[in-house]
Amino acid sequence: MESLHQLFLIRHSIRRYTDQPVAADDVKTIIEAALLSPSSKSARPWQFVVVEDKNTLEQLSQCKTHGTVPVKGCAFAVVVTADPGRSDVYVEDSTVAAIMMHLQAADLGIGSCWIQVRGRSDATGEDSEQVVRELLDIPSHMAVECIVTFGYSAENRRPVDPAKLLWEKVHIGKWTTPAAE
Ligand SMILES: Cc1cc2nc3c(=O)[nH]c(=O)nc-3n(C[C@H](O)[C@H](O)[C@H](O)COP(=O)(O)O)c2cc1C
Repeated sequence: MESLHQLFLIRHSIRRYTDQPVAADDVKTIIEAALLSPSSKSARPWQFVVVEDKNTLEQLSQCKTHGTVPVKGCAFAVVVTADPGRSDVYVEDSTVAAIMMHLQAADLGIGSCWIQVRGRSDATGEDSEQVVRELLDIPSHMAVECIVTFGYSAENRRPVDPAKLLWEKVHIGKWTTPAAE
């Protein structure tokens, strides 16, 4: 990749994957990115569960009612958990780690997608975090923020056009409200 900014322009959430496995070295590099992520007070409250088993991925995909299709077809997934007892901003710390993996994967030419778990529920109404905890033997005190799915892309996504960025969401110096037309 020529530059990080160029990576941002081509990065997308990838939800459909080929059957090509991801090499162990690349899996390691992606996990390293999570372990290298910054966290408040360097508390590093997160722990990660790497899942490759197809049957387990299928079961994981049922942790909530919508938006889990990538879990079924991915080469592997990383479940991002964190200990709220170790940091009052464990959600932010988890988020940073998940995004670090997403960007690291993109840099390796590997697609990925964030699957929200916290605040969601499955088809029976059970809390998605609890469903994932039970399936993967995650201790009850650990929060489950999300699942990040990885695999080689079976999608054809275009780079973002910088001209379409939402600059109206940026305020210089102080908040400005556009004049009514
Ligand atoms: C906090 C968060 C939660 C998300 N949850 C899901 C999800 O549950 N399922 C899914 O398919 N995509 C999910 N996404 C991916 C977004 O839908 C995606 O980032 C958005 O549509 C923009 O597309 P892009 O990433 O290709 O720019 C999530 C992304 C974020 C940041």
